[in-house]
Amino acid sequence: MHLHTLSAAVLLAISTLAVAAPAADLKKLNGCLKPLGSKVITSNNKSQYEKERYAFDLRYTFKPQVIVMAKSNADVQTAVKCAKAAQVPVAPRSGGHSFEGYSIGGQDGSLVLDLTAMNTVKVQGDKAKVGAGIRLGKLYLDLYKQGGWTINAGTCPSVGIGGHALGGGFGLLARKHGLLIDRIVEMEMVNADGQLLKVSATQNPDLFFALRGAGSGSFGVVISFTIKPVKPAAKVTSFSYEWDLKHHAQVLKAYIDLQAKASRDLGVEMNVGHSGLELYGIFQGTKSQQKTALASFFKVVPKPKEDVREHRHVDAQLRFAFVEGGKEGDIEGLALTGKHRAGDSRYTKGKSLIYPTALKPSTIALLGKWAAVKPKGATSNYIIVDLWGGAVSDHAATETSFVHRNAHSVFEFVVEWSGSNAKPGKADCKPCLKWMDDMFKEFLDDYKKNNYDSVARGYQNYIDRAMPNWTEAYYGQAMPRLKQIKSAVDPANVFRFPQSIPLK
Ligand SMILES: Cc1cc2nc3c(=O)[nH]c(=O)nc-3n(C[C@H](O)[C@H](O)[C@H](O)COP(=O)(O)OP(=O)(O)OC[C@H]3O[C@@H](n4cnc5c(N)ncnc54)[C@H](O)[C@@H]3O)c2cc1C
Ligand SMILES: *[C@@H]1O[C@H](CO)[C@@H](O)[C@H](O)[C@H]1NC(C)=O
Ligand SMILES: *[C@@H]1O[C@H](CO)[C@@H](O)[C@H](O)[C@H]1NC(C)=O
Repeated sequence: MHLHTLSAAVLLAISTLAVAAPAADLKKLNGCLKPLGSKVITSNNKSQYEKERYAFDLRYTFKPQVIVMAKSNADVQTAVKCAKAAQVPVAPRSGGHSFEGYSIGGQDGSLVLDLTAMNTVKVQGDKAKVGAGIRLGKLYLDLYKQGGWTINAGTCPSVGIGGHALGGGFGLLARKHGLLIDRIVEMEMVNADGQLLKVSATQNPDLFFALRGAGSGSFGVVISFTIKPVKPAAKVTSFSYEWDLKHHAQVLKAYIDLQAKASRDLGVEMNVGHSGLELYGIFQGTKSQQKTALASFFKVVPKPKEDVREHRHVDAQLRFAFVEGGKEGDIEGLALTGKHRAGDSRYTKGKSLIYPTALKPSTIALLGKWAAVKPKGATSNYIIVDLWGGAVSDHAATETSFVHRNAHSVFEFVVEWSGSNAKPGKADCKPCLKWMDDMFKEFLDDYKKNNYDSVARGYQNYIDRAMPNWTEAYYGQAMPRLKQIKSAVDPANVFRFPQSIPLK
């Protein structure tokens, strides 16, 4: 915990949440969970507990009351019923990539419901039913093997579909096919009473609204997603272009202008760091089509260093998965098994801002200024600028609880201070967190000065405890309806963590 960085209001929220369940209830909890046998891990099973209680971001050392490694729908139902009876909060865990450790509770004393084993993929007709514990890399591989399909989701192969989908889900196919939530047609969810519900446009439509955007951890445990997969182009072009950071004003201006003009076949991100600017992405089409699509951009920027490849979409997914030991075409690496790893844990802090219009010159100047700083102790620090728009904006802001349909670009601020697969329990890198906080403050001032929006907006999948006005920033005008739905489906607040949807 890093209390010095938290505001008084947030501290108050945490202290009222983290009331430990009475000892008698905990005894009852253990008895209630007995039928789950070895799938239940408590601190009595020290080695297993130490292995399972950490997730992606090693800064978080919350101590769960119990961890349940669920293998079936029935396991999930039993665990939720037991937790409710014992008044212990439930934290569902899919890929464990929460920026605030919320899938380990975000506080001590939760029941962590790990879904890793519930990871099957079955394509039938034009639908794919996917277990909520699968990671994106394995999902891409399985969809490819079952008929050449894929899905419009993020690039990191170890991210879980659970948190990713329930918070929106942005990736390099978003401009063409929208967010991941836009292709979900049904979900199965276990509610606070342990009942298994179907959730779709016609069954539990309020939950269908709430889960698609604000669904992470607040309403129930989603155990499966039924998604309309997409067919990528037969040949796609993956690319990266690099410039020295000194060209940031010129390159970022031209990049931002692409948002409104460029073909929806173009999925792009820009990494801004002290080692330079890197534009990377996937174009749905051949090399020559990609060249045409970017011709006007290349007229107005200096000549970059480039690496452009024409291959299958699945090869492009592998390229940007950065799998250790991964070779071009060796797509089994996407499953991250055996010798293939993807840096599954590290020390990191992230924040985000959403810009509803093209960036103003002062904002571009700030990107150049802060990317140039290298805090002492950081192994990497950078800002990713994603171009949204396209199919993301085809949906009304009221269709789902994902309200940022007008997003022009989205920033992800990132700092890391360990290599991948480090050991947990190390001290924070103070200069790293200071870089983040000082930078973010200047971006917030600039956001206000340029009047981008009435409050600063952020992306809930890059959740941050210190985000000012966080309910408004993440869920905007959806909040009143979300609170009503929360009160109706989980009045006992079984699904709670420091930034869960409140009852009122
Ligand atoms: C390296 C990295 C790369 C990323 N890249 C992208 C990207 O390209 N695009 C993008 O949009 N986002 C990206 N993200 C953000 C990512 O989408 C979120 O961190 C997401 O919440 C992770 O999902 P998870 O299942 O791995 O995490 P978890 O920590 O398991 O879950 C996150 C939250 O969702 C809840 N939750 C998880 N599963 C369920 C479930 N089945 N039912 C109900 N609640 C559930 C958890 O309780 C927790 O509150 C990235 C994150 C990281 C760390
Ligand atoms: C966990 O510990 C308890 C008691 O300490 C033991 O009965 C149980 O078998 C252990 N479970 C596993 C999976 O090792
Ligand atoms: C938070 O909300 C208050 C009150 O609406 C507003 O004055 C302030 O600018 C907001 N902060 C940010 C960063 O948007």
